[in-house]
Amino acid sequence: MEREPFDATEFERIATIVPWVHKVFAFASIASTNDEASRLAKRAEPEGTVVVADHQTAGRGRLDREWISEPGLALLASWIVRPPFFADRSLLALASGVAVADAIDTATGIAVDLKWPNDVMVDGRKLAGILCEGLPDGSTIVGIGVNVRTSEFPLDLADRATSLLLERSRPIGRAALLASILEAFSPFAHAPASALEGYRKRCSTIGTRVRVLMSGQTIEGSATEVNDQGELTVVDDSGEHLAIRAGDVTHLR
Ligand code: BTN
Repeated sequence: MEREPFDATEFERIATIVPWVHKVFAFASIASTNDEASRLAKRAEPEGTVVVADHQTAGRGRLDREWISEPGLALLASWIVRPPFFADRSLLALASGVAVADAIDTATGIAVDLKWPNDVMVDGRKLAGILCEGLPDGSTIVGIGVNVRTSEFPLDLADRATSLLLERSRPIGRAALLASILEAFSPFAHAPASALEGYRKRCSTIGTRVRVLMSGQTIEGSATEVNDQGELTVVDDSGEHLAIRAGDVTHLR
């Protein structure tokens, strides 16, 4: 696998290019960029503070899963948002997905869609994942992991994951991609509802038959829409209408 060298200064420069970005902290290796961004948020670092790493030793995914990647192959970044309204926190997760998808689409020419809530997909395979975490003071950490140059995935992921390399992306460095993502995200930081229209256009879950695993319970049915609160509405096989706030969705074909 051809790894991209990690140049911290290229990432730090993003703060001079994207007005919303306050400062970029770049690490060759760190436990988790989300954990570091949380630590910085608790130390009162402002919104727009970004943490990026070439490698994580304890990367985390949604639903308590691990997020594993090797140095030089993925874009791993987290940033601090201080949404003015508590209710905006769940919409920020969707808005982050729109920003990542729009930036990837524009920068690479790859047509991506969003699996609810915010998996960035290409033809049913996951290209990027997003972990949004709320802190007690009301701030939110947005963490993204984009598979950039991975050419082989572990067997259990092989038919479910992809990378920019495997999708024959136009060449783009990780720092340039992160700058585009942050640029796309910035208008949503305090207005995440403004991402909903774009979200619905990109969301491949809407209109699809789904299995949803949520806190120990599994349901199957048809996903009908994503409502203004960012919940996935599903009509299950007994005809019950459900609005799902959090869960693990599988598209059934
Ligand atoms: C998911 O799809 O489960 C979300 C994956 C999020 C992974 C990113 S990598 C950078 C940031 N730091 C972490 O520990 N997790 C997120």
